[in-house]
Amino acid sequence: MKIALSGYGKMGKIIEKMALDRKHEIVLKIDKDNTHELTADNLRQADVVIEFSTPDSAFNNIKTCVEAGVPIVVGTTGWYDHLDEVKQLCEQTGGAVLYGTNFSVGVNVFFHINKMLAKVMNNYPYYGVQVEEIHHTQKLDWPSGTAITIAEGIIENLDVKTEWTKALVSDTDDADSNVNERDNELLIESLRIENVPGTHTVIYDSEVDTIEFKHTAHNRNGFALGAVLAAEWIKDKKGCYPVTDMFNFSA
Ligand SMILES: NC(=O)c1ccc[n+]([C@@H]2O[C@H](COP(=O)([O-])OP(=O)(O)OC[C@H]3O[C@@H](n4cnc5c(N)ncnc54)[C@H](O)[C@@H]3O)[C@@H](O)[C@H]2O)c1
Repeated sequence: MKIALSGYGKMGKIIEKMALDRKHEIVLKIDKDNTHELTADNLRQADVVIEFSTPDSAFNNIKTCVEAGVPIVVGTTGWYDHLDEVKQLCEQTGGAVLYGTNFSVGVNVFFHINKMLAKVMNNYPYYGVQVEEIHHTQKLDWPSGTAITIAEGIIENLDVKTEWTKALVSDTDDADSNVNERDNELLIESLRIENVPGTHTVIYDSEVDTIEFKHTAHNRNGFALGAVLAAEWIKDKKGCYPVTDMFNFSA
């Protein structure tokens, strides 16, 4: 498969390696210094584009790729205000987009179990619940897209919570003093620590015990491999899909 990379930072470079290991070819690399090369003519050399750039640039890049008729996998987070426009564009043009806050297999298993756990916890209203996420200090958005997906999974399934709220803290022990969340609000605490690829924890806490459900990424390889698998999956499809459609957890 011929792959174009839109965004050649930390993720783009690892995706390149994973793609080459799986015998794919990289035919175009776009980063902030050569954005003018993201043209329909250049894109049409590729079977699929993998987009890991910045929250501000993702939407324009997606539009350019869909309009050029090249399927695109979008790992960039923080652009979802434009999701409806992207869905419409896919319908109008017959384009293909696969998007997700996290492409790692482990995190997608986590998303699934998180929803099941929230359903179970409906029976035990004396547990409070909170989401914590830790990432490296260069991460531009907070809370992480992954933490938002986790929070949405809880809100869909735990009746008492109807919206999420956020706090950026310097130490997870600080958080409660900074935020007055209401009962219907689910707090997401974000912490930034050098060199952490991504840690997410869901905490159910009562007077008698604490249940912690945690995913720790040891490096970025799981996200990168997932993005290449996503590119293989979207290549011959049409439509706009969340990454969860790639996984089948029905068993
Ligand atoms: N979905 C997932 O599994 C997953 C995993 C890790 C990171 N992410 C997200 O992916 C994105 C990139 O992460 P990263 O760690 O590689 O960041 P990074 O800062 O290392 O890389 C981003 C790159 O995009 C480039 N860029 C800037 N403007 C651009 C433009 N207009 N077009 C193309 N490229 C442009 C930058 O120069 C930089 O090299 C972030 O939004 C991050 O949250 C998603």
